[in-house]
Amino acid sequence: MPDRSSCRETKAGFFVYVGERNGKTNRPFGRRRFIFDLKDKRIILTGASGSLGRQIREELTALGARVCATDLDAGMAEDAGSGDDGGMSRILDVTDQGQWDECLAAVASTWGGVDALVNNAAIASSKVPIDERDPADFARILDVNLQGPFLGTRAVIPYLGDKGGSIVNIASVAGVAQAEDADAAYAASKAGLLALTRSTAAQQAHRNIRCNAIAPGPVASALVSAIYDTPEKLARRLTRVPLGRMAEPRDVSASVAFLISDRAAYLNGVTIGVDGGAAIQ
Ligand SMILES: NC(=O)c1ccc[n+]([C@@H]2O[C@H](COP(=O)([O-])OP(=O)(O)OC[C@H]3O[C@@H](n4cnc5c(N)ncnc54)[C@H](O)[C@@H]3O)[C@@H](O)[C@H]2O)c1
Repeated sequence: MPDRSSCRETKAGFFVYVGERNGKTNRPFGRRRFIFDLKDKRIILTGASGSLGRQIREELTALGARVCATDLDAGMAEDAGSGDDGGMSRILDVTDQGQWDECLAAVASTWGGVDALVNNAAIASSKVPIDERDPADFARILDVNLQGPFLGTRAVIPYLGDKGGSIVNIASVAGVAQAEDADAAYAASKAGLLALTRSTAAQQAHRNIRCNAIAPGPVASALVSAIYDTPEKLARRLTRVPLGRMAEPRDVSASVAFLISDRAAYLNGVTIGVDGGAAIQ
């Protein structure tokens, strides 16, 4: 029996082949249909110049979205975003309410509105024993990783308005499980972000604003290389990941794209664990 349909991912996005395959070439007959795209979506992305931020921007753009790439300074934001693909870049320190307001006003006036926000910016640290943790450092990590997404959520809601939209919070498996591996301040900030996700989802659903989270396990990135800086440390960490490897940034960006898309229209308040099974260990 020939395959009636098959699914592939390319640089341009996900699509499904509908129809039978040619027996000689094994190529599918029939039409190529995108499973989802992000055409006409206007998205604000924080921490866009980081390892994951770059990949998220690239994937959302490839699926047809316009992305406002933001980061701490102009160099980083410009480096991460490009006007050539219909996007823009802005300075945005997520801890600064005034900068959120300016950014949202600028995006809405240029593009006529906003459809989604990806709260991706964060700071991480290697594990510091809790009895040695400086309270000022603890507060700073919560400020960026939890207060930042809160300020962004608060600022974007009026722009999403009654037409609705999507907020995606990038949390971490550290906020769900694997407490032994995580820094307490980082874990607390990400657990708080998951609670913020659920509260936002519950409170804004009546306006069709969906809010969901992604909780990645270790991702191949500069951040992880700095924390697990020897092959032994990394190997030890991976013994606690059932799939036995780190996530690739594209494993995470695929879930971000899906949650923003209209194919996820009935997902609200959920956390997708992109963690190779780490949270079930
Ligand atoms: N890399 C991983 O293994 C991993 C695992 C789980 C979760 N995450 C989460 O994924 C997200 C992205 O991580 P990454 O690996 O790309 O980290 P990264 O350090 O490469 O990027 C983080 C970005 O956030 C920006 N940033 C920091 N403070 C900011 C502030 N106050 N305002 C605005 N921007 C600020 C940085 O400039 C940087 O560009 C984070 O939320 C992180 O907690 C990462």
